[in-house]
Amino acid sequence: MDMQTIKARAGDHNLENYEEKYKNFNWDEVKSNFTWSETDKVNIAYETIDKHAADPAKKDQAALIYSSPDREETLSFDQLKRKSNQFANVLKKYEIEKGDRVFLFMHRSPEFYAAFFGILKVGAIAGPLFEAFMEQAVRDRLEDSEARMLITTPDLLERVPLNELPNLEKIVLVGGSDSDHHINFEKEMQKASEDFEIEWVDLEDGMLLHYTSGSTGKPKGVYHVHNAMIQHYQTGKWVLDLKDDDVYWCTADPGWVTGTSYGIFAPWLNGVTNVVRGGRFSPDDWYGTLDDKNVNVWYSAPTAFRKMLSAGEEAVKKHDLSSLRHILSVGEPLNPEVITWGLKAFDLRIHDTWWMTETGAMLICNYPSEDIRPGSMGRPLPGIKASIVDNEGNELPANQMGNLAIKEGWPSMMRAVWDNPGKFESYFINGWYVSGDSAYRDEDGYFWFQGRLDDVINTSGERVGPFEVESKLIEHEAVAEAGVIGKPDPERGEIIKAFVTLRDGYSESDELLEDIRQFVKKGLSAHAAPREIEIKDTIPKTRSGKIMRRLLKSWELGLPTGDTSTLEE
Ligand code: PRX
Repeated sequence: MDMQTIKARAGDHNLENYEEKYKNFNWDEVKSNFTWSETDKVNIAYETIDKHAADPAKKDQAALIYSSPDREETLSFDQLKRKSNQFANVLKKYEIEKGDRVFLFMHRSPEFYAAFFGILKVGAIAGPLFEAFMEQAVRDRLEDSEARMLITTPDLLERVPLNELPNLEKIVLVGGSDSDHHINFEKEMQKASEDFEIEWVDLEDGMLLHYTSGSTGKPKGVYHVHNAMIQHYQTGKWVLDLKDDDVYWCTADPGWVTGTSYGIFAPWLNGVTNVVRGGRFSPDDWYGTLDDKNVNVWYSAPTAFRKMLSAGEEAVKKHDLSSLRHILSVGEPLNPEVITWGLKAFDLRIHDTWWMTETGAMLICNYPSEDIRPGSMGRPLPGIKASIVDNEGNELPANQMGNLAIKEGWPSMMRAVWDNPGKFESYFINGWYVSGDSAYRDEDGYFWFQGRLDDVINTSGERVGPFEVESKLIEHEAVAEAGVIGKPDPERGEIIKAFVTLRDGYSESDELLEDIRQFVKKGLSAHAAPREIEIKDTIPKTRSGKIMRRLLKSWELGLPTGDTSTLEE
């Protein structure tokens, strides 16, 4: 194969000569970087914040630079330590214990970060919810996790069905008023001490729950433990290539795993200044953020890059982007044309990285010190064994497509699916974690993503389960049955397309289709609402009643329909 490669550039990269240097690398080596308590315990909140606050050279360095259209605020490591201590004291006052689930449903703000670390400092498990979630999405997650406390804002509280959540004992309102019957964040913080004795925990104790979608059933709670810090820390060095004085910006919301692993943990474990931008996406504001904050390392997603590309060259030229040194991408296939644009717009390569909510941290990546093959996700990290396996878990030779799989046992791997051991077990075959992605590996060990093997939809880098959308659709009074697929789209990767049958007495009209769309948007979230809805006379199902999404997709794309022997009469 004649392969175009983009050569690595000379520079002082953290991961030079990695194959030789890390041939016998063992993740346990990383543990010596952490502070162990007298009882041989740790806490990821200590490593991310308090450790730097205790270092005279670092304590006053900006940890968080928060910027949104109506608010600018900078917090040093020392300030973030004090604020999170205060919140930890508030949690103690309201009897939150180690292992309790405490959820956050709020916009990105300095208060979010204080609360997040407060939760970790008492040894509780944080559950950040994406701010765009609507009632059903919020209820499913709080119900499944049996969360005891929710931290939210008055505008988002309207979407929390308080009467239907018996385990949810306490609500903390950020920016609430005196007349609210809830815990007032600002008042409690004012009264709380800035000193707090951190709860030291075992590496295997829980810290985070992220809900994510599969092809069947409701979203699943992916459970992560403090041990993940080993990989967050090390990939921050190796892949983000972070240096002590860097200004770093990860654009992901902490409601998604990229926004926690790489929007919180990796940068702060490495003690760098972390930029957080609130507000909506606009190419011009984003170029502005890179410029104003002098961002050195930038981690974002193909959908955003494509939108910035569409904004044209003028948008780039208006800004001084000379601070930018390193760009990375995650969440969807990174198109070679985006890499070409990156070279032109920034004179930098964009480095693709592959991983998932379940894997907790990066696994297959492109490094600054390595050549890039556009279209490839790169190669497995030192200490990670990735392969392509068949359905029985046997490894396949190079250039053969199959299941992208990882040998069990990397530090940041999920430890459970909340309250669903069967689901957790189902990920593993023959010692391999099977990702659900199809890919192949070339002779030189570069991995090439081919697609999802299940029906999970990836729209603008956000993972949506068709079952969740179908369930919501059939709650609409006009909808009898529904089947939902991802339809390829040049900007968003995929869009959600729904096929529905109507109940008796309803007929197709533009108003009805819009009403159905809005119904899903208001029930679940904007990103889960189908952009296209098509009315059908029937939805194809197997004899056992399963919706044949593959067939819907083949029809939609005009592809051969394959084996339809299980199709219902
Ligand atoms: O299909 C793969 C796609 O996103 C899925 C994981 O989604 P999520 O758990 O939401 O995590 C996203 C961010 C870590 C994967 O199964 N995906 C992720 N990275 C890439 C990708 N597809 C292609 N190229 C990537 N670099």
